[in-house]
Amino acid sequence: MRIKSLSLLVSLAVLAAISSAPAAENPPAATYADWAIGPYLQSPTPTAMTICFVSDHAADVSIRVKPGAQNAWISHPAIGTLIPNTAATVWKCRLKNLAPNTAYEYSLDHTANNTKVTGKTYTFKTPSLNNTETRWIVLNDVHNRMATVDALMEHVSPHDYEFSILLGDCWNDPTWGKSGETIMKTLESFIRNLHGHEKPILYVRGNHEWRGYFADKHGYLFDLPNLDPTASRYEQNYYFSFAAGPVRFLFADCGEDGNKREELFQPYRQRQTQWLADEIKKPEYASGKYRIFASHIPLFNENQWHAGRCRELWSSTLAQANLDLALAAHDHQWRVLKKNCACVNKKCEHCGQSGVCPHSPPYPLVIGGGPSLKEGTVMLLQADSANLSMRMQNCAGTVIAEFAGMARE
Ligand SMILES: [Fe+2]
Repeated sequence: MRIKSLSLLVSLAVLAAISSAPAAENPPAATYADWAIGPYLQSPTPTAMTICFVSDHAADVSIRVKPGAQNAWISHPAIGTLIPNTAATVWKCRLKNLAPNTAYEYSLDHTANNTKVTGKTYTFKTPSLNNTETRWIVLNDVHNRMATVDALMEHVSPHDYEFSILLGDCWNDPTWGKSGETIMKTLESFIRNLHGHEKPILYVRGNHEWRGYFADKHGYLFDLPNLDPTASRYEQNYYFSFAAGPVRFLFADCGEDGNKREELFQPYRQRQTQWLADEIKKPEYASGKYRIFASHIPLFNENQWHAGRCRELWSSTLAQANLDLALAAHDHQWRVLKKNCACVNKKCEHCGQSGVCPHSPPYPLVIGGGPSLKEGTVMLLQADSANLSMRMQNCAGTVIAEFAGMARE
């Protein structure tokens, strides 16, 4: 489903104004209206999948699904929730009791202007934790600059990934304004570029997504295991664990950068300290061949730090987590830091602008690039029975960095 052409709407509005109404001195600005975005996949597990859809006018949304060509279609109603103080309704349908490692065809049907609209048929596949291999991609710090995503994804084949991760600051200070046009067009572009109708998009929050008047409502657009978007801003839990094939992920939310509004962010970070400690004790975490920690802000960095409070709270737990790799963003300068490398931060907010603050990541750490065509990066990762590997490409499709780690016995 694509956004209707804004230029067509503008043209129709202008024609209508010419033919039926006296000329206005200041004609109203064209509004972004009559849009529908999706479907897109969220929160995959071996036995469940959430299908989402957002629109300012759709009604009676339902999902038809069938496993395999021989089976009959089954229809499931989607639940619509109006995002407060917006024109947008987000529709979600959680499909449960699915078979692991199985392909399902589905379509999203809805009613628009009293007309039934039958959606295109898509296919998704449920994950299997018995799979010995998985592939995924990571984008970060897009800051609404979708031309960068267009350029990056020109050089990525859909066969290169089963799911994608947005590692924070992909939206820039989200504010709905009158129409929410930027927020929705950014979402539409991610779904189109990342094949989000057939490959789940995992969302990790960045510090810029804590900013803007839409920040406490942004969560309505996603389905994350611990997130209640109706909760107050600092009670919304974006952190979650995830499993795919041989990999176990821990996704944390650092909150704002630096020491901003510590009285509000520290309790949220402290909740994640306990959550991390609980997660790494779970048998399903230990059962993974590879363990990856991901956060928007790197806990260790040679550049401006910004995550001192998270490092203080989480690093002793993470040191016990047997991590094979950490993924991060935020810096707008890509880099690959080796395990136990010596990072010297020349401008540390904790040690002072002239202070030297040596620290060392207890795991390999890959940091993605920034929003411009010059800075943009996509990470392509693969885990199989022998290796965990990453290659990073720029907007020209050139491989600019690589990482390879061996599987532990
Ligand atoms: Fe950031």
